[in-house]
Amino acid sequence: MSEKKKISILIIDGDESSKNTFTNYFEQNSLTEIIGIYSDLMDGYNAVIEKKPAIVLIDISENSDLALELIHKISMQHRSCIIFVSSYESSSNTIIKAMRAGAREFIVKPIQVEDLNIALEKTKMLINIDQGDGQGCKVFTIFSNKGGIGKTSVATNLAMSLTELTGKKVALVDLNLQLGDVTTFLDITPAFDISYVVNNLNRIDESFLFSTLERYKNKNLYVLADPPYLEQAEEISADQINTVLNTLKSVFSYIIIDTGVNFDSKTIPALDIADNILLISMVNLPCIRNTQRCLDLFNRLGYESEKIKLIVNRYLPGDEIRVEDVEDVLGHSIYWKIPNNYLTMMSAINKGIPVSAVDASSPLNRNFVELAALLSNTILNKESKDMQSSQKTKNLFDFSKIKHFIQKLIQKN
Ligand SMILES: Nc1ncnc2c1ncn2[C@@H]1O[C@H](COP(=O)(O)OP(=O)(O)O)[C@@H](O)[C@H]1O
Ligand SMILES: [Mg+2]
Repeated sequence: MSEKKKISILIIDGDESSKNTFTNYFEQNSLTEIIGIYSDLMDGYNAVIEKKPAIVLIDISENSDLALELIHKISMQHRSCIIFVSSYESSSNTIIKAMRAGAREFIVKPIQVEDLNIALEKTKMLINIDQGDGQGCKVFTIFSNKGGIGKTSVATNLAMSLTELTGKKVALVDLNLQLGDVTTFLDITPAFDISYVVNNLNRIDESFLFSTLERYKNKNLYVLADPPYLEQAEEISADQINTVLNTLKSVFSYIIIDTGVNFDSKTIPALDIADNILLISMVNLPCIRNTQRCLDLFNRLGYESEKIKLIVNRYLPGDEIRVEDVEDVLGHSIYWKIPNNYLTMMSAINKGIPVSAVDASSPLNRNFVELAALLSNTILNKESKDMQSSQKTKNLFDFSKIKHFIQKLIQKN
């Protein structure tokens, strides 16, 4: 691992003596660096959105209504940012309001160094202090709000293709905490699982991860499995998942995250951290409707449209509904199509091996390799695109007849 990067701090406080205390404290701390100090709330807020600090300190003693509103906005728009609030006013009512708006720590003024120590110590583990390495890591979260659509099939085979194609270290994380089946798809019985990792967060570093993640058949693919017992899954918090994912980022070149069907608090960190969400769908009405719901929600979560890569699984060139019309209804282009190949896929699943081990030359395996190439910016780009565009075959069905029906269905939801 390269030299650790410091935790970036941004301060928004109009009070000169507090600013001095913060500056002395964070400049002397070898783990932190100040990336901005602002007296004006709006200037500070704009800087947070632009600079994305790991921690922001906001004073709410003056103009507390606006300060709380901006804290709420920051917690929505830059979710990984940890917010420390400070105030001369420390009634329980004020503390509750600050926490509800999204603050993680409340520091009573005048500032005591001991309080800053405690707040920093408590939150240090939540921050990716190895951002330098993490920048080189790409995270792909496989999602669909419908089960049985092929998420785990895509996650395992894409992870395998990325490993073989790039030769880099790939982590495959099963965040379908209650019903995960990555271990079944790869026929492995890991000694440790995510529950063990979150219970040892104080030990989490590169060597700990390599000794706890299950290495797959001596390849550069490492699996972080779901916990064996439902109650263990219950105990894992969103913050812990965030810490684990951020630490993985500093160690691996690619992270593939398989998910369940729910938009629960434990899935959100995986969606937030993703460079790309691979939203899996199929070309049929219920799937299109659910995909539309997902796209709406992603929009409300503030994700850029380019972050979402729509993938049609089990694609059949002669499908009644054309993919162009699906794109039209969803207002989102289809990034990739994976062919329907039930026999090859089932054979892989039943044997507990990836598709590449069943039949490396099958169109299904070639498709996964090409998808991996596209996502990792490795060669094959042109051929992949050509292959995808050649899949756009003639429509066999007059889609205009059912288009209004799909739109009505979508509006209803
Ligand atoms: N491209 C494909 N072609 C044919 N069958 C597929 C394909 N992708 C997935 N399947 C089948 O779909 C079923 C559900 O896949 P799975 O990956 O478990 O979905 P999910 O994780 O979304 O619940 C499996 O039985 C698998 O064989
Ligand atoms: Mg699954």
